[in-house]
Amino acid sequence: MGAYEAEVNGQRVGDARLAPENSDFHQRLLVQQYDVTRLLRAGDNVLGAHVADGFYASEAIGRGRYPFGEAPRRLWARLEVQMPGGDRQVVTTDGLWRTAAGPVTFAEIYHGETHDARLESPGWSKPGFDDSAWAEAWSAPTPSCALHLQESPPIRAVMALPPRQVTRLPDGDHVIDFGQNFAGWCRIRVRGMAGHTITLRFAELLNSDGSVDMRNLRAARCTDRYTLRGEGVETWEPRFTYHGFRYVQVSGWPSELQAGDIEGIVAHSDLPITGHLESSQAIVQGLWHNTLWSQRSNFFGLPTDCPQRDERLGWTGDAQIFWPTAAFNMDVRAFTRRFLADLRASQQPGGAYMDTNPPALPAAGAPGWSDAGVVLPYTVWQHYGETELIDEHWASMERWMAWIAEPNSEGLWRHRRDVDFGDWLSLDAKSLMDETTPKLLTATACWARMLGMMVDMARITKRDAAAGHYGAWHRKVHAAFVREFVRDDGRVGNDSHTGAILALAFGLVPASLRQSVADRLAGNVRARGTLLTTGFLGTPFSLDALAEHGHAGLAVELLLRTEFPSWGYMVARGATTIWERWNGDVGDVAMNSYNHYALGAVTAFLYRRIAGIDVGAPGFSQIAVRPLLDARLGSGSASLQTAHGEIASEWQVRDGGDVDYRLTVPAGCIASVTLPGGTPHTLGPGTHQMVQRSADLKDTRRG
Ligand code: BGC
Repeated sequence: MGAYEAEVNGQRVGDARLAPENSDFHQRLLVQQYDVTRLLRAGDNVLGAHVADGFYASEAIGRGRYPFGEAPRRLWARLEVQMPGGDRQVVTTDGLWRTAAGPVTFAEIYHGETHDARLESPGWSKPGFDDSAWAEAWSAPTPSCALHLQESPPIRAVMALPPRQVTRLPDGDHVIDFGQNFAGWCRIRVRGMAGHTITLRFAELLNSDGSVDMRNLRAARCTDRYTLRGEGVETWEPRFTYHGFRYVQVSGWPSELQAGDIEGIVAHSDLPITGHLESSQAIVQGLWHNTLWSQRSNFFGLPTDCPQRDERLGWTGDAQIFWPTAAFNMDVRAFTRRFLADLRASQQPGGAYMDTNPPALPAAGAPGWSDAGVVLPYTVWQHYGETELIDEHWASMERWMAWIAEPNSEGLWRHRRDVDFGDWLSLDAKSLMDETTPKLLTATACWARMLGMMVDMARITKRDAAAGHYGAWHRKVHAAFVREFVRDDGRVGNDSHTGAILALAFGLVPASLRQSVADRLAGNVRARGTLLTTGFLGTPFSLDALAEHGHAGLAVELLLRTEFPSWGYMVARGATTIWERWNGDVGDVAMNSYNHYALGAVTAFLYRRIAGIDVGAPGFSQIAVRPLLDARLGSGSASLQTAHGEIASEWQVRDGGDVDYRLTVPAGCIASVTLPGGTPHTLGPGTHQMVQRSADLKDTRRG
């Protein structure tokens, strides 16, 4: 309960940071297991730990400090030694342990860490240390929550960034720009007088005078302090906090700060990177880069909304819209399994999932948010071909589906929408809860989508009765949606972009009307000035909805646009991560994160329709290859690690505008390939070279 860093004989145990990671500590606590063989020695051994408040006691929005009642900082450890002769020795935390105050005098996830190096006790975890002045440990009652062994990759310090620029302010402070927004902290190397204190303040933005602008961090103080011990060069980095930042303002540096004195330490859940994409188009490259960095910053034990302000919560909506992109960028299997267990731990007795996990706010069951409970296992199945998670999570999904269905027998999700965020942060919203697309529409569309996924997952796991059951519900919700929202002239709902996009993307438009819905959507997008008005729910599917229905050219235009609002607008304004709002540069500071992956959920489109790497059959045993090959997208390459091996593609525009396309299909896979204007054909393992003539491409630019 709290956070720890263990040491054996003066050496750090493992490389996990901020363990135990965030979870609903009422229900479940993740424990870590390490092989410490090489740290042990013959004779006396010492096992010890630094402890602090950690996620357990930190002040998340609406949760307050110490939300779980009892005093924090409780350590439970167990060292098991298997002797060569077969004997076993077990050492556990008991009343014989000793404690003392350490150099960390304050540590909090949101507010930062204070370290007074004068209070360090050199050698404290080495044999021979005199601990006679230390107090006896208090033997605490065992917490009532279940202990689970952590199986997902831990949070680690993954890379170090050098300063891009160091500037000096008139008052003597230094401001460091790392050139990249990220989650982590700073490591400093400093020489100075004992007792001198250095203060580091972290931010995503600068004021016009060059100082850090911390207003959008809200209640999070994001400040670290280090007091020097005064002996030679001192190297320090915090242990028990993290910040989301690009800039740090350093006060009290004893001399002129040099670039080599400080580095940015990037930390995140250390999932294997699986996807890569390169594009000669700066906007496409920037969007891909910014999305990956927002994923890095927010895959932090849990999938969080943002890494910087007083929030950093496991918002289910952000997760569910982003998961299909996340699964291209990284191997998310273990991470998903962990988060689904969190969802189940706090699932409401009626069946609703909490909107935040671990629950920080009392809301549950929001359409488009709690969908995570169904979308995440579905995505893992699609990307990796594995169905274990479906089985593990099935009963829970059924309860969630029953919770929605029970009061909504007419097939519209009218009741039990709790706090319905709708198409959150859409362009036209006058206020946060504004209804720019009818919330009954977005909710019902989300419900239909989940039902479709339930049918597929029931079939693949041979739950025939369930497949029939959800199939019947799917037909009912589909029919109700069409009746309520789809008009013969191609209008969906109130004619908003998101209404049409969700209806098309989730297959909720009768075949005879699909083209007119798509044409009308394209017309509306153009009428607004070739821009999208979509928020969290509509944005991820926007380009697909157009490209799938004869408007690929318009999708490309939207992708390459740099005027407000667009992804390119962020890139052109120097964003290095995805903004929470389309108008992040001028948005209300009370809710304006510069590192929210939600609007980056469209990045899956880059892999699928620019690189041409899409799931044809679960686990990529079949690859659906349908690259747009629009010459305006320039040249590029992409790769994806799958269970079968690496899938790779490359596209290159020739002088006359013809596009070369090269595809590598790993052993055990087949690719079904359709180039624009061409007919589908199947390719087996190997590397294949294709040409798309520029003359044919014009056909794809309708509308
Ligand atoms: C978060 C979002 C989240 C939302 C709920 C915000 O404060 O940052 O990303 O999904 O609340 O609508």
